[in-house]
Amino acid sequence: MYSEKVMDHFQNPRNAGELENANGVGTVGNAKCGDIMRIYFDIDDDQIIKDVRFKTFGCGAAVATSSMATELVKGKTIYEALEVTNKAVMEALDGLPPVKVHCSLLAEEAIHAALWDYAEKKGIVIEGLEKPK
Ligand code: FES
Ligand code: FES
Repeated sequence: MYSEKVMDHFQNPRNAGELENANGVGTVGNAKCGDIMRIYFDIDDDQIIKDVRFKTFGCGAAVATSSMATELVKGKTIYEALEVTNKAVMEALDGLPPVKVHCSLLAEEAIHAALWDYAEKKGIVIEGLEKPK
């Protein structure tokens, strides 16, 4: 049912935990299942994501997509991170079963929420970023 990459990221999640010096934090919940994901960003003066952590209270697919999403945004600019969609995360994981696609949306939404939080704290506008619900 799950790809090897999904199982790997579920069993050995990358970048799990919290960041004390985070300057962008996003928390989102999945209305369908009640699972929760939080992403922490440490973004430097050049708007590069120097460090990232996540905490996910949810299913295995949500943990695996969080883990892969943090890998995909690490070292990227905030605009590159905006392009890390749930589709990109799923592709990087070699796919998810159809009933688990909604889990990957959490990762995209959490990235957006954390970027929004960063922009608000810095008083900047990130073009193309919509206010999280
Ligand atoms: Fe999310 Fe079961 S519905 S863990
Ligand atoms: Fe809820 Fe996966 S079942 S996020």
